[in-house]
Amino acid sequence: MWHMPDKIRPGGSLAPARRNHVCGIYQTMADPYGILAPAAFYVNYQGVNKMSYDIQTRCIHGQEHSREDALCSISYPIYQTASFSHLTPGHNPSGFDYSRESNPTRSYLEETISSLEYAADSIAFSSGMAAISACFELFRPGDHVICTDDLYGGSVRLFQTISEKNGLEIDFVDTSHVENINNALRPNTKAIYVETPTNPMMHVTDIAAAAQIAQAAGALLIVDNTFLTPYLQNPLLLGADLVVHSGTKYLSGHNDTISGFLCIKDQALADRLRLIAKTTGAVLAPFDSWLVHRGIKTLPIRMERHEENARHLVHVLQNIKYVKNVYYVGLPGHPGYELNKKQARGAGGMISFEVDSAQRARKLLESVRLITFAESLGGTESLLTYPIAQTHTDVPQDMREKAGITDRLLRLSVGLESAKDLEDDLLQAFGLL
Ligand SMILES: Cc1ncc(COP(=O)(O)O)c(C=O)c1O
Repeated sequence: MWHMPDKIRPGGSLAPARRNHVCGIYQTMADPYGILAPAAFYVNYQGVNKMSYDIQTRCIHGQEHSREDALCSISYPIYQTASFSHLTPGHNPSGFDYSRESNPTRSYLEETISSLEYAADSIAFSSGMAAISACFELFRPGDHVICTDDLYGGSVRLFQTISEKNGLEIDFVDTSHVENINNALRPNTKAIYVETPTNPMMHVTDIAAAAQIAQAAGALLIVDNTFLTPYLQNPLLLGADLVVHSGTKYLSGHNDTISGFLCIKDQALADRLRLIAKTTGAVLAPFDSWLVHRGIKTLPIRMERHEENARHLVHVLQNIKYVKNVYYVGLPGHPGYELNKKQARGAGGMISFEVDSAQRARKLLESVRLITFAESLGGTESLLTYPIAQTHTDVPQDMREKAGITDRLLRLSVGLESAKDLEDDLLQAFGLL
């Protein structure tokens, strides 16, 4: 017969399972390379300061609370339950009530993400768009938000349809020149929203400079960190207030689940967002939480390999006569190269490139064999995307043209296959083998 183990009895180690984020000290330093392991970020758990671990370890053991399950399984269980029992009014031993509000598997994942992004708290959503939508519930009609002018098309669609319908005033500016942010400020500016590098044109924004502007204006700086992940870039350490992730991409990493995150620097802001999340309800299901956590365990080695393969393919693409421009932040000629080097620890696995004609672009999409013509990014499989017809199809034409999203532009998410096989596939698709 199964007995409730001591651990989950009232007073046992799982008893205070309700979130109890006691964060330590943010070290404020100018140099992002000096703050990779802040000394006392999280309260020690059983004598172990989890934040003293390297990121490779935190991807696996970064949870703030010990959450061993009753049977001591190594892989954290999927608590596939909608609700949790109470013993008496006001006394529920697990600390959990209802899975829309919180669920152990989701909390386990959220704590891991918080440790990676140096966040006071993180909230897992059912998609990246659900996370961004929840974030924009912070604002009221008449509030003004400055956004990067080259963003994932779904974000542009959200801002131009739903956010504007809700009375928000949205301006899109080229944030890679921070003076444009300054020039766009208004007395009612409540947030600056940037992607860096951007999807798909790979523009780089100076996060620390944008954070200074936001702080002086009393606005929030929100950074979509999907492309580089916390393995390569930590916007909160550079002064951002909020980090957005499409967890669908590198974090889960296997093209098998949709998810999103908000990682929040400040607990008071996190409490407001938790209220929004539990009220609007687009939170991540237990099984998907488990999948994303499993993906994160290998994030560091995957990111290293994505970048290695991307660097190889950038070189290949640069030597193909039909390729006119290659956009990759790890290329010394890229306008954002130095800045990205300063604020990030790598260039990642995303490449955009322009071919000489729309016909060639279409032919390439039809001819790849190992690489798949599909939207999305950040997974084990290499995906070739046609932004104009897929990810950015709902972006107004004038905005697309201004950004350079033409019918000759392709985006390549470099996967983890053999670099040689990927090279051969590109060459055969270009008709060069
Ligand atoms: C940079 C970026 N942010 C956010 C999203 C939205 O994420 P999701 O598709 O998980 O809703 C995407 C999706 O492609 C993206 O590329």
